[in-house]
Amino acid sequence: MRFDGKTVVVTGGALGIGQAVSRLFAERGAAVSILDYDEAAGNTLCSDLTQTGASSVFHHVDVAKFDDVKTAVDATHASFGSIDAVVVSAGIQRYGTAVSTDDEQWDEVLDVNLRGAWNVAKSAIPYMRENGGSIVNVSSVQALASQQNVLAYTISKHGLIGLTRSIAMDFASDGIRANAVCPGTVDTPMLKWAASLDPDPSSVYDACNAMHPLGRIAQPKEIAEVVVFLAHDSASFVTGAVWTVDGGLLTQIGGVPQTN
Ligand SMILES: NC(=O)c1ccc[n+]([C@@H]2O[C@H](COP(=O)([O-])OP(=O)(O)OC[C@H]3O[C@@H](n4cnc5c(N)ncnc54)[C@H](O)[C@@H]3O)[C@@H](O)[C@H]2O)c1
Repeated sequence: MRFDGKTVVVTGGALGIGQAVSRLFAERGAAVSILDYDEAAGNTLCSDLTQTGASSVFHHVDVAKFDDVKTAVDATHASFGSIDAVVVSAGIQRYGTAVSTDDEQWDEVLDVNLRGAWNVAKSAIPYMRENGGSIVNVSSVQALASQQNVLAYTISKHGLIGLTRSIAMDFASDGIRANAVCPGTVDTPMLKWAASLDPDPSSVYDACNAMHPLGRIAQPKEIAEVVVFLAHDSASFVTGAVWTVDGGLLTQIGGVPQTN
């Protein structure tokens, strides 16, 4: 699955799942435009990729701000001449219920996780209409089920499925596909941060490993492989789809008696 001559935009592309996606696209010949809030991580990754001979640019962007995103996407098109794929991986996790979540937290999470994805779609689709293309939104198993105390996050991830399906319907005739990937737990800086909120962070990793039927959490590259497949022409008949990449997490129903 090569991407020679193709240009991809990866939001949240500096760290975690987005970083693995950026690296895999670069390995497979794409020019990679990294849009991220973390300037140091973005610059480091961009120079890493460039040193391996790949074409890459970093844009310091808050995905919640439309003007930031549009400026970066316009600059990407001006530099490389096309936008062939977009991956939305920028996201944040916060904790709260329908009672404890305040307006500020609601806005913060929805603005980054959902408005951010809309901002990049709105900026990139006019360019993607020139030659067709593919959008992959990194949602979560929390788009299809939920946990306690994650109101704003789970709403944002459910919403991302709606955004993905709307784009798939509205732009299919332009040759633009849109799909969502729903990872289980992945070993990234986000997980490290979430575990650090617990008095015993290693117990969080143990619990996360144990809850997946495969017996472990994912490495970012395992999510990136699916994302990059969906972005490629190999997935040319896949649109409006929601792919779980969760080690079987959502497949299991607990409570089976031990019969032997
Ligand atoms: N790690 C998991 O277990 C897991 C599971 C399911 C879904 N996800 C989702 O996958 C995506 C990536 O998660 P991750 O674990 O790699 O997270 P991460 O925190 O490790 O990396 C997220 C990246 O997004 C960037 N970012 C955050 N807010 C931004 C903003 N406003 N503007 C621009 N960039 C911003 C960060 O700087 C970082 O580079 C997220 O949408 C997350 O919700 C993660």
